[in-house]
Amino acid sequence: MSKDRIRRPSLLSKVVSADQAASLIHDGMTVGMSGFTRAGEAKAVPLALAARNAAHPIKITLLTGASLGNNIDKLLTEAGVLARRLPFQSDATLRNAINQGDVLFIDQHLSETVEFLRSHQMKPVDVAIIEAVAITEDGGIVPTTSVGNSASFALSAKQIIVELNSSHAAELEGLHDIYIPGKRPLRDSIPVVASNSRIGTHAIPVNPDNIAAIVLTDKFDSPASLAAPDSETIAIAAHLTDFLSNEVKQGRLSNSLNPLQAGIGNIANSVLYGLVHSPFEQLTMYSEVLQDSTVALLDSGKLVFASGASMTLSQPVADAFFPHIAKYKDRLVLRPQEISNHPEIIRRLGIIAINTALECDIYGNVNSTHVNGTHMMNGIGGSGDFARNAYMAIFVAKSTAKDGAISTVVPMVTHCDHNEHDVDILVTEHGLADLRALAPRERAKIVINNCVDPAYRDQALDYHNRALARGGQTPHVLEEAFSWHQQRAKTGSMRLS
Ligand code: COA
Repeated sequence: MSKDRIRRPSLLSKVVSADQAASLIHDGMTVGMSGFTRAGEAKAVPLALAARNAAHPIKITLLTGASLGNNIDKLLTEAGVLARRLPFQSDATLRNAINQGDVLFIDQHLSETVEFLRSHQMKPVDVAIIEAVAITEDGGIVPTTSVGNSASFALSAKQIIVELNSSHAAELEGLHDIYIPGKRPLRDSIPVVASNSRIGTHAIPVNPDNIAAIVLTDKFDSPASLAAPDSETIAIAAHLTDFLSNEVKQGRLSNSLNPLQAGIGNIANSVLYGLVHSPFEQLTMYSEVLQDSTVALLDSGKLVFASGASMTLSQPVADAFFPHIAKYKDRLVLRPQEISNHPEIIRRLGIIAINTALECDIYGNVNSTHVNGTHMMNGIGGSGDFARNAYMAIFVAKSTAKDGAISTVVPMVTHCDHNEHDVDILVTEHGLADLRALAPRERAKIVINNCVDPAYRDQALDYHNRALARGGQTPHVLEEAFSWHQQRAKTGSMRLS
């Protein structure tokens, strides 16, 4: 490893093997690790931890920014290392362990984890494991493809393990903007006034004496496996573009719109791709995860600046992007997730937030997390941070899932992450429901007519008409509210006929 990457000579003696570093982690500890939506996670020490668990079984609480790549959550779960996990995950093996009750999962708003830590409302981080591109002359840690919660983990941990990863371009240095809010209740306002505001430092300013070990690695992030836009996501993007164009026409938005946020996953990524061919210009993003669509928008010249907490790209896009990162650096910044997702900034900048619903109901309540109200999918992630505080909270979904067996628009959501008070717009491939300033009875009509798949429209109308007969601000037939889900459990499909 070049001395350019460990620029503080006294730290050269801290280089150890991943196994030696893993031995610093003991049973019952809380470990705070870098990694956000499969980008920039520590890769060597967690694998060493999983490997040594057969001989030295331990259980830990693992905190990260968000989900991890390189199968790390899977391998840690299979090795039995995880007792508790937060604040987000998207791994099938861990998901099963959570749903069986073997791992306790705390599904948290992504902006809140480090606030809980700082105010001692959660057990402190014993060891932080942070992937880095370099360690500076004064011991500062330069993150890689994500910042996530790394800064606060490293600054609060008793011991820090740094994974110096040579597979990341050294030119990533300078991309990050590390800013930690002051103590409450007299905290200053956070001085982000635009997506491109830079308010902090390039490296995490830790006390170098707390760096207990440095591990050298060269494994790259796992690529995002995003599906290409399909006819349904293209239709969703078209509805959204028409709607936003009309907002411009009505004078409510300028042709550069407001800063955009787009959530994880296939649908939000495809929707953002749709903006490449839109009439909008000089767009900005104030988001958390920057996906392939962000690079396409930057390359097309439509997007002038993107702020995020991580970059998660597919292999071909990563191969074309990272070797030329220097060319993009004046149009990108990666921030701690409590800043990328900060309610104060989201409200101030007037973000247009686009997130994906697992299911929504006829009144506009949204379930992002729980299949059938009980089984965890991934977690709420940053969708709540954005939706509650956005200028406009948009939720997108295909109108059906599992080959039409599930309607994603149902009479009543089985779990509510975003309630009707927060949800402004719903979009499926069939159309868009503009729910702003509408009463529940008005909302239901528009959602059923514009968003429900034709195969489910009659049964939705039938439910709503019978609910109206019972009265109420938000009419329901309570004993039937989950009948579509029960029908799916009984017959495999939500179709009632
Ligand atoms: N019931 C059961 N399963 C459903 C469903 C429903 N109502 N709606 C969708 N699904 C399934 C799909 O069939 C698909 O299953 P598969 O992986 O077996 O094919 C899976 O959920 C993912 O759906 P997909 O259509 O590919 O959408 P996506 O990749 O965009 O993911 C979410 C959708 C909701 C799971 C994802 O966006 C998420 O986890 N959101 C919550 C976090 C969040 O919004 N973060 C935003 C800030 S980054």
